[in-house]
Amino acid sequence: MPVTVDLETLGLDTGGHLLVQRALAGLRPGGRLRVRGSHPQLALHLGAWCRARGHRVELAGDAPLIVKGAADELRWAGAERAGLPGQVSGRADPRWGLAARGALVEAGGPPLDVAWAERDLVWAEVAPRLYARAAAAQWDPATAVDWSAAGDLPDDVEDAVVQVMTYLVENEHAALIVPARMLANLHPHFREVMQLLAAQVADEARHVEVFTRRALLRRDAPGVSGAGGRASLRTLLDETDFTLASFLLSVLGEGSFVDLLKFLDRHAPDPVTAAVTRLAARDEARHVAFGVAHTAHVVRADPAFLSRLRTAVERRHEALRDTAGLNREVSDSLVVLAAGSWEPAAIRRGWDAVRRLRSEMDEGRRRRLAHIGFPDDEAAELSALHTRNFM
Ligand SMILES: [Fe+2]
Ligand SMILES: [Fe+2]
Repeated sequence: MPVTVDLETLGLDTGGHLLVQRALAGLRPGGRLRVRGSHPQLALHLGAWCRARGHRVELAGDAPLIVKGAADELRWAGAERAGLPGQVSGRADPRWGLAARGALVEAGGPPLDVAWAERDLVWAEVAPRLYARAAAAQWDPATAVDWSAAGDLPDDVEDAVVQVMTYLVENEHAALIVPARMLANLHPHFREVMQLLAAQVADEARHVEVFTRRALLRRDAPGVSGAGGRASLRTLLDETDFTLASFLLSVLGEGSFVDLLKFLDRHAPDPVTAAVTRLAARDEARHVAFGVAHTAHVVRADPAFLSRLRTAVERRHEALRDTAGLNREVSDSLVVLAAGSWEPAAIRRGWDAVRRLRSEMDEGRRRRLAHIGFPDDEAAELSALHTRNFM
């Protein structure tokens, strides 16, 4: 006796196939299913549906009879799992495409064309935790900053703030584009790294917004953009290797930027400038944490990679040898902000504060380079070769 399914008045054009499919799932190929129902087109629709799915249908008798074909089984015969759901594979298969980690992937279909599919070239153990922290720490520029608190500053102090903000926005553009490119070429099997980079891109979008907004709070136009800074950022964008890009941007550039943002928070002449730099510094600390952890991971897996990191710094230094580095307008503005007044003694204090900032940046870079695996003397040498533009 064949199994029977009763569709009553339900047609195959309004979901009836779900009941047929469910009944067929329990049968082996060759098994028979009687389909009852009063829909006027039932036999016609069932014939077409069965042909498309490789089942045979017999229309003799009072109700159509389906003889199950082997196509369903064959469809999944060559299927493979996209790794294990709870485990990050050493190598992600391009044939897994964009499938969820651990999903059963039907054979066929185009392979995914991405450059970064090996765990040890993109991973850091801390990535899942950093992503969770990033997701929890997203802030809203509209409410996280009291935009009415800026007050009126003397014109030349406002000018300095506007110039520094203009410089920050330009650097944030590079900091947004670099992880966006890394992200676009990464196999999504490394989901936590993908999510973390996406959060990083969103962070930079906010930084662009708040720095722009502070620049234009009392002015119609931002300050200047110098050719030296642009040359420095260009060399960042030119780096196409995942780890080298992360190293140059996050370990060296954003690492130095955390010190710069803290400096600006400390010396801010108004609460808005303090708030936007403080909020950005918190996000940057996460970006640096991933860059350091990831680069250290790569070096642990392949100690020879240290020489590639070294070459990347030297190559960049060479490319920037004849450029101005930090624009004069920006370094002067930093001195003015740290001085807080135009008294010669205050300017001297501002000058010293900027010098201390540079040496704090240098110490930080040396510490991070040593953590990655460079001996202290090499760390000092490489830190000194870092771009004078800071980023
Ligand atoms: Fe940023
Ligand atoms: Fe960043």
